[in-house]
Amino acid sequence: MNFMEIAENRQSCRSYNPAKNVEDHKLQDILKAAQLAPSACNGQPYKITVCKGDAAKAVAAACTGMGMNKFAAQAPVQLVISEMPYVKSAALGAKLKKNDYRSIDIGIVTAYITAEAAAQGLGTCILGWLDDGKIREICGLEYPARLVITLGYPSEDDKLRTKKRKDLDELVAYK
Ligand SMILES: Cc1cc2nc3c(=O)[nH]c(=O)nc-3n(C[C@H](O)[C@H](O)[C@H](O)COP(=O)(O)O)c2cc1C
Repeated sequence: MNFMEIAENRQSCRSYNPAKNVEDHKLQDILKAAQLAPSACNGQPYKITVCKGDAAKAVAAACTGMGMNKFAAQAPVQLVISEMPYVKSAALGAKLKKNDYRSIDIGIVTAYITAEAAAQGLGTCILGWLDDGKIREICGLEYPARLVITLGYPSEDDKLRTKKRKDLDELVAYK
């Protein structure tokens, strides 16, 4: 798949086949794609914790509540993206320029992960509705859990949806 095909095929998967595990070689390719993601000052201020089995179930449970994210429990793998301290130069830049580079970097690595997963025929959903305290405890994290990415094979009823997006003339300005 070229990039446009990946972008068109990636969607938030909210129905997984719980009987189908993610092959290790596919998971490794997804993690290698994450390793290649750019970040401010090349600092990579995040950690990816791969959760399977009981840990995956516990993380999924920490992303549910108020009717949200019930589907997460079906996904065999949960990738927890936690924030790490800045490298010195990025910390200085963030302070001087009042810019939250870490959130940007986490967004980019998440985009790489979800794109490579789509290229591998896997489904993902990015979850921002999460209980940071519980996830830190499950994963033994010192720093905040910022996103969880559910990963697994989509179930048969998870068909490709038409994307709903802003029109380009609303999204883009030319000066
Ligand atoms: C930062 C972030 C947080 C999100 N949190 C959730 C979430 O907690 N639960 C959920 O079902 N979808 C979540 N999503 C998925 C978005 O709703 C989804 O990407 C958007 O509606 C576009 O749909 P698509 O991914 O199918 O193209 C999140 C996406 C992002 C980027």
